[in-house]
Amino acid sequence: MAHFIILLGPPGAGKGTQAERIIKKLGIVHISSGNLFRENLEKETDLGRLAKSYMDKGELVPDNVTIAMVRERLTKLDCQTGALLDGFPRTPAQAKALDKILAEKNESILCVPYIKVPEDLSVERLSGRWTCREAGHVYHEKYNPPKEKGICDIDGSPLYQRDDDKRRTVEQRIKVYSQQTAPLIDYYDKNGLLRTIDGTKEIDEITESILKEIT
Ligand code: AP5
Repeated sequence: MAHFIILLGPPGAGKGTQAERIIKKLGIVHISSGNLFRENLEKETDLGRLAKSYMDKGELVPDNVTIAMVRERLTKLDCQTGALLDGFPRTPAQAKALDKILAEKNESILCVPYIKVPEDLSVERLSGRWTCREAGHVYHEKYNPPKEKGICDIDGSPLYQRDDDKRRTVEQRIKVYSQQTAPLIDYYDKNGLLRTIDGTKEIDEITESILKEIT
């Protein structure tokens, strides 16, 4: 049986940071809808251009486009043993679509770790975040700095600050999260999959808590 796990949480909760660590332990792939959009943006595809028009405003990319992109990604061979989904689903319609996609593969969701952080911490984490150009590895100038300033420890590529980490866009992303994504907490709680994780702790401690819930 494959392991399909969803990391839920507000912008800046640490989903990407934890995903990098958890996939190493579990040997499954990391599927981040945000990273898929950014890859399309780098390659200057139509999907990338469309996504940018929403991402720059802190709005969600429309469900039909996002679901089609993730559905396609889940058909790849490397998903046969499962996947860690980060940033998807983000609306009730996406959650229902994912249930259907997995049911078609005779698979289901193993659990949904929900990384809970207060709003002020989300803002602080995003304002100090630096991301690697090559593969999206994540650092924080205060809490998780790279060994050499501006350079990714893992692949040596330059680090940059995301356009959507500007203060006003962050505020809009948090608002959109509360309105459109937070209802999923209840959705996954009702079907017994939700595992609430205290996201205010240190990175290693959070990884341990998540792994305890999964394994
Ligand atoms: P996306 O890229 O998914 O962004 P997000 O969900 O807003 O999440 P982030 O990547 O900002 O934060 P994170 O939780 O991964 O935190 P991180 O680990 O980096 O989406 C971007 C946009 O794409 C959306 O706004 C939307 O437009 C579009 N989109 C994406 N998916 C979509 C979907 N499904 N539907 C529609 N539209 C979609 O950590 C943050 C910082 O904190 C880092 O600097 C890190 O080093 C630091 N940190 C992490 N953990 C800790 C800790 N425990 N202590 C101290 N510092 C920490």
